[in-house]
Amino acid sequence: MTKMPRALLTGVGSYLPKKILTNHDLEKTMDTSDEWIRQRTGIVQRHVAADDQLTSDLGVEAGQKALTNAGIAAEDINCIIVATTTPDNTFPATAAAIQTKLGAHHAFAFDVQAVCAGFVYALDIGDAMIKSGKVKNALIIGAETFTRILDWEDRGTAVLFGDGAGAVVLEAHTTAEEDDWGILASCLYTDGRFRDLLYVDGGTSFNGIAGHVRMKGNELFRHAVEKLSMSLENVMQASGIKAEDIDWLVPHQANIRIIDSMQKKMGMTADKVVRTVAMHANTSAASIPLALDTAISDGRVKNGDLVAFEAIGGGLTWGASLVRIGQPVID
Ligand code: UT7
Repeated sequence: MTKMPRALLTGVGSYLPKKILTNHDLEKTMDTSDEWIRQRTGIVQRHVAADDQLTSDLGVEAGQKALTNAGIAAEDINCIIVATTTPDNTFPATAAAIQTKLGAHHAFAFDVQAVCAGFVYALDIGDAMIKSGKVKNALIIGAETFTRILDWEDRGTAVLFGDGAGAVVLEAHTTAEEDDWGILASCLYTDGRFRDLLYVDGGTSFNGIAGHVRMKGNELFRHAVEKLSMSLENVMQASGIKAEDIDWLVPHQANIRIIDSMQKKMGMTADKVVRTVAMHANTSAASIPLALDTAISDGRVKNGDLVAFEAIGGGLTWGASLVRIGQPVID
């Protein structure tokens, strides 16, 4: 019987810009408080890219670390997919800049735009390309300079977001040992009827300017828990996996209250959920790989752990993936 290749997740990396903006810093410039931000969102601080740092610069740092972690040279990468909502330019794709800056001369490269769900979208596309045999490996990057599209006069959105990048390497494997490894299931959804819940009031075709983030936060909040839990249930059903079999939930980091609600709804214990929103705020497409790299680096997530990703963002776009991290150790 011909076996389908599986996409193993063999490398992870992330990057955060040096500059940190705390809630107390924000208190000095807008009508907000550390107490409000912590209680309503769980956020304590966020990182902000330097004036001369582009989204591609953040993505290159994370991408290079993921390649090193996987033990793959940039020139051996077949494909680079960059999830971003804050590209360097309207065109060309930020992925093209990253491809050249990395020296990944044999990779074709493109951007995916699904806002905060961008990483699960890019991961699913990479998985499909590996399963189809189109590529043998793929570098998936989530990179954002979200602070560049914030309206610093709007306390309802300005306190929520930060900059950063995260990346993973996917590699095709077809041997029998990998049956239960790599990306086991994923699902993606879009409902454009709700695109006014989180959007930017600018755009190339709309008015020719980059624009600023606008959000109906409390309405979005209500969609988040329902749509995220539905996504997770779908991937568990598709792969025959129960919530108690999942070692780690690595959710999109938008709001600690959404993450806590998800944990309870899925019947998981708090110690199985990776939470980085306090230190990174919402980094949109970068948040899941950033959280994953944090939990691998500090020794929580280990080779062979079963990890669930889930995210929701503007569009609305949402989805989930179930992944057995790393690769089997073959004697
Ligand atoms: O990444 C994509 C996915 N993102 C999400 O899913 C985000 C979902 N939404 C949320 O996380 C929350 O809705 C927010 C954190 C955005 C807002 O929390 P909330 O509990 O829904 O607050 P709210 O928008 O209903 O506002 C409550 C109050 C308002 O004052 P009044 O009208 O009750 O007097 C706001 O003006 O809080 C006020 N407020 C603030 N106060 C201090 C809003 N922002 C701030 C602020 N500091 N930064």
